[in-house]
Amino acid sequence: MKKEQVVNCQFSVWYPLFKKHTIKSLILPIPQNVIDYLFDDGTLVVSGSYLLNNQPWTDDETTTAVTAPEFPEFKIRVQEAINVLGGRVFPKLNWSAPRDANWIALNSSLQCQSLCDIFLLFKSSDFITHDLTQPFLHCSDDSPDPTINYELVLRKWSELIPGAEFRCFVKENKIIAISQRDYTQHYQHIAKQEDSISSAILEFFRDHIQYQFPDEDFVLDVYRDSSGRVWLIDFNPFGEVTDSFLFTWEELTSGKNLTANQTQEDTALQEGPAFRYTTSEVTVQPSPCLSYRIPRDFLDLTTGEDAYKLIDFLKLKKGQQEEESDEEGEGP
Ligand SMILES: Nc1ncnc2c1ncn2[C@@H]1O[C@H](COP(=O)(O)OP(=O)(O)OP(=O)(O)O)[C@@H](O)[C@H]1O
Ligand SMILES: [Mg+2]
Repeated sequence: MKKEQVVNCQFSVWYPLFKKHTIKSLILPIPQNVIDYLFDDGTLVVSGSYLLNNQPWTDDETTTAVTAPEFPEFKIRVQEAINVLGGRVFPKLNWSAPRDANWIALNSSLQCQSLCDIFLLFKSSDFITHDLTQPFLHCSDDSPDPTINYELVLRKWSELIPGAEFRCFVKENKIIAISQRDYTQHYQHIAKQEDSISSAILEFFRDHIQYQFPDEDFVLDVYRDSSGRVWLIDFNPFGEVTDSFLFTWEELTSGKNLTANQTQEDTALQEGPAFRYTTSEVTVQPSPCLSYRIPRDFLDLTTGEDAYKLIDFLKLKKGQQEEESDEEGEGP
């Protein structure tokens, strides 16, 4: 993978070319002070809130309020954009969405209504940190890193059905492989409609994408809605940084016939791409983002979400302290 391929997959590079075929979005340049705030991995304090740095379970005697930095102008621009997009948005940086951080949001979703919601997700996400700190990881060229202008991408919130999302691997401007995106689940309709899904995606690709993207190797995410219309969701670099789902990168780059594993009947019919989907409930796997989470109890306690849990915790702590002071009081 070359650095230029990564540059071409930035949202602001492809969106103007394919606007008609994707979800309505707005791109806002991020001012340097906001980038500095996103880079700073100190206390997580989001605008409009404050945090006391002596939590009940620490021995720290001092109580200092840490106030969040404010970005009034940027905040207004973001709020205006959110309003234009209908009040609810899906946020991204140049390449990534904070998919690994949805557990921290009060609604457990990436749906945002304010800059404060966006900051909470961005500051909690390793995927956003990847965009900020090592966007050219796995690139094979030694040239200096191209300059990146960081941008906040706001996409109109859309209720996408996970079973209708597919990832297409494009090599030399041909789709060589298509994978079900949410591979942890088994969706009966995919097996039933395999041919129509595959041909709808191929037709969409041929009519609107092929030879129009600035690279000949890339990964394309698409969505097939309930009326059968195919939509573009995202472009990703053709290489290790992109999740290969039901294929391996070794297979995708080997040049071997990827349909070889399919049944003979399929192979005879199929001259197009290999199409893989999760075939039975036996193979259902845990969500790939689970490992980014922290225990629910810890989250409830730190956010004060579950008042009863917090009360129990404080009672426990008080009980322990009383026990300790009793022990100290007891003479030999
Ligand atoms: N506008 C939207 N509204 C609601 N959900 C969305 C929207 N856009 C994308 N999603 C959901 O979020 C998921 C991730 O979106 P997207 O592919 O843009 O993120 P990403 O960070 O580029 O992911 P990846 O790292 O896999 O490339 C999609 O699979 C889709 O389910
Ligand atoms: Mg992507």
